[in-house]
Amino acid sequence: MATGNIEDSEQALANSGTVPSVTTLTEWKARVQSREARVGIIGLGYVGLPLTLLFSSEGFRVTGFDVDEKKVDTLNNGASYIWRIEPEHIAAAQAKGFRATTDFKDIAEMDAVLICVPTPLTEHHAPDLSYVETTVHAIAPYVRAGQLIVLESTTYPGTTEEIVVRILTEAGAKRGVNVQIAPPEETEQIDGILVAFSPEREDPGNMITPRREIPKVVGGMDKPATEAACALYGSIFTKTVPVSSPATAEMTKLLENIYRSVNIALVNELKQLCMKMGVDIWEVVDAAATKPFGFQAFYPGPGIGGHCIPVDPFYLTWKAKEYGFTTRFIQLAGEVNEDMPVFVMRQVARALNAQGVATKGAKVLVLGVAYKADVDDLRESPSLAIIEQLQGLGCDVSYNDPFFPKVGHGRKYALNMESTPLERVSEFDCVLIATDHSAYEMETIVAEAKLVVDSRNATRHIQSPKIVRC
Ligand SMILES: NC(=O)c1ccc[n+]([C@@H]2O[C@H](COP(=O)([O-])OP(=O)(O)OC[C@H]3O[C@@H](n4cnc5c(N)ncnc54)[C@H](O)[C@@H]3O)[C@@H](O)[C@H]2O)c1
Repeated sequence: MATGNIEDSEQALANSGTVPSVTTLTEWKARVQSREARVGIIGLGYVGLPLTLLFSSEGFRVTGFDVDEKKVDTLNNGASYIWRIEPEHIAAAQAKGFRATTDFKDIAEMDAVLICVPTPLTEHHAPDLSYVETTVHAIAPYVRAGQLIVLESTTYPGTTEEIVVRILTEAGAKRGVNVQIAPPEETEQIDGILVAFSPEREDPGNMITPRREIPKVVGGMDKPATEAACALYGSIFTKTVPVSSPATAEMTKLLENIYRSVNIALVNELKQLCMKMGVDIWEVVDAAATKPFGFQAFYPGPGIGGHCIPVDPFYLTWKAKEYGFTTRFIQLAGEVNEDMPVFVMRQVARALNAQGVATKGAKVLVLGVAYKADVDDLRESPSLAIIEQLQGLGCDVSYNDPFFPKVGHGRKYALNMESTPLERVSEFDCVLIATDHSAYEMETIVAEAKLVVDSRNATRHIQSPKIVRC
């Protein structure tokens, strides 16, 4: 079997570990089936922590790796920092051997290492792969033949090969540890590190599709890597979808998110036209959704947020430039979606004006700073942009969010505000519904508010002259 390269005297270092190395796929699968396989998950955030709990609930002994000591301590103390994850879930995982650590030496003892670290954009809308690179450098001294390394972080096609495999190969050269790239006909022998990409398709706040029911796409560097990853994921997910390469799996994830970004932009644009034409866009979408084929409903809103939809498409835009290619749909969708907070701000200004209230000094309460309903995540949230826009107009802005008693400052915002109790709704000139958390009782809010601007169609069942939908 052809492997990456390299032989060297500095063999073994920490890499021999305590776990017997597997040399065949049959052995690997047996370790998964018997639950002897130890799983290491790097990055214990919104993706990595739920994944940890899923593996643990299926009987795997999981070790979580993170650079954030506070998170590691919190978990080892049996507590949680993600709203929908209860301390009982952490305790149940601990009972099955889960522990968190900042010490990457323990990577040597893992059979599978799944990387779930952030992949944001830089200020110039270029991919920031520094977290992935740092992680791969950190594990490189400890990886060994027979181990499976999977990148789950969303990224452009080519990352697994160009970054993960490259760094592991360079570091492995000093230790005689190779990334395995076997010829297509070889499916059984394992004599190197198995590397794959498997995109994370988690949908926070989605209570309808259990995570294990979301099929897991897997693309390995060779057939044994794909099969080993499918065996592992197949033990916790109902279905795995093997594809021919890591790049195919990377592109699959981007297609899914670009599809959403483009369709959301389309419906956001049509909303603006519908408002001018006096047509209710939500009624239109609901009617179109009755078509049994060829249409999937997307709903307008105040803009897009979260770690994925506003970010991921631009990974492809950036990579496409290497091929002299312009991703026009992605850019246009990005522009329309990014303009939505300004559009919402203008609707608030118009609604205040119609009431004879000057925007300068107007008291506006923004309901919901999370980027979508019932999540405790405000990354890229359009609410933050809307608040800044309203402040720019001279409005006196407050917010309410049951998930965020306080909002300080982040990379792109500096609010330094505290959540205003809903009992004070009547004190405001305008209440803007930016995020439709299910805790909000819309009837009560509309009854008490002087004016409601609704960017989520959250008041669709309420008739009131106080409501302006946008
Ligand atoms: N959040 C989602 O809904 C979602 C859905 C699908 C895909 N994704 C993708 O999954 C990846 C992770 O996203 P997330 O939302 O979980 O991010 P997150 O910020 O919630 O969590 C990332 C974790 O990685 C840790 N980390 C950072 N650098 C590290 C390092 N060098 N070593 C170890 N740990 C490190 C951070 O401390 C943090 O705990 C991203 O690529 C994202 O695009 C996220």
